[in-house]
Amino acid sequence: MHKQIASRLLNWYEDAARRLPWRGVSDPYAVWVSEVMLQQTRVETVIPFYERWMRRFPTVQSLAEASEQDVLLAWEGMGYYNRARSLHKAARQVMRDYGGKLPASREALIKLPGIGEYSAGAIASIAFGLDETAVDGNVRRVYARLFDVDTPIKSPEGLERVEQIAREQLPAGLAGDYNQALMDLGAMICLPREPRCEICPLKELCLARQNGTQAERPVKSAK
Ligand code: ADE
Repeated sequence: MHKQIASRLLNWYEDAARRLPWRGVSDPYAVWVSEVMLQQTRVETVIPFYERWMRRFPTVQSLAEASEQDVLLAWEGMGYYNRARSLHKAARQVMRDYGGKLPASREALIKLPGIGEYSAGAIASIAFGLDETAVDGNVRRVYARLFDVDTPIKSPEGLERVEQIAREQLPAGLAGDYNQALMDLGAMICLPREPRCEICPLKELCLARQNGTQAERPVKSAK
């Protein structure tokens, strides 16, 4: 099998995936809301806020028509309120420019307030099934270990190396599940300090594990 990493990860994801409330929904707005909340808030904290939010503002239109005060009130408790302001502003933009439908491309998504590289890739792949990468700190750690990347991970070369790996490993047509499987692996198995290599579905493919360098990957120093 050509894409060994992807096929093993997707198999693992079928059984082990976290059953999160925004998974298995096909509404791009729901995926968008979840990704913005997850930018700076932990999954467990996000869950009840997400559920309440979707009852309060079930559509782009309902969010666009709400007052800023109501939007900020619904966000209360998650912090980083700029995310709520941006989401609100973006909802109004989506109403005006796209008839209430989130645009289905990474390039258009990233132009909306509050959507950066990572969220654009996540939304494009999860909500629209597009073949886009979504690389955050967790995913960088996973790839730095799988490929035993010894370049400082936040240097331009390190970032580019991981981006390139991510593009190469992406399974066509399955990017949404694959990206979320990577997120889950980073959150549950390939942990920053004590990775649970014994139960990792990718342990036979992991170069850092073969070389005994897990604890030294990703390389942090030197920008
Ligand atoms: N972190 C950011 N996006 C996520 C997602 N879709 N699932 C789990 N963790 C995430």
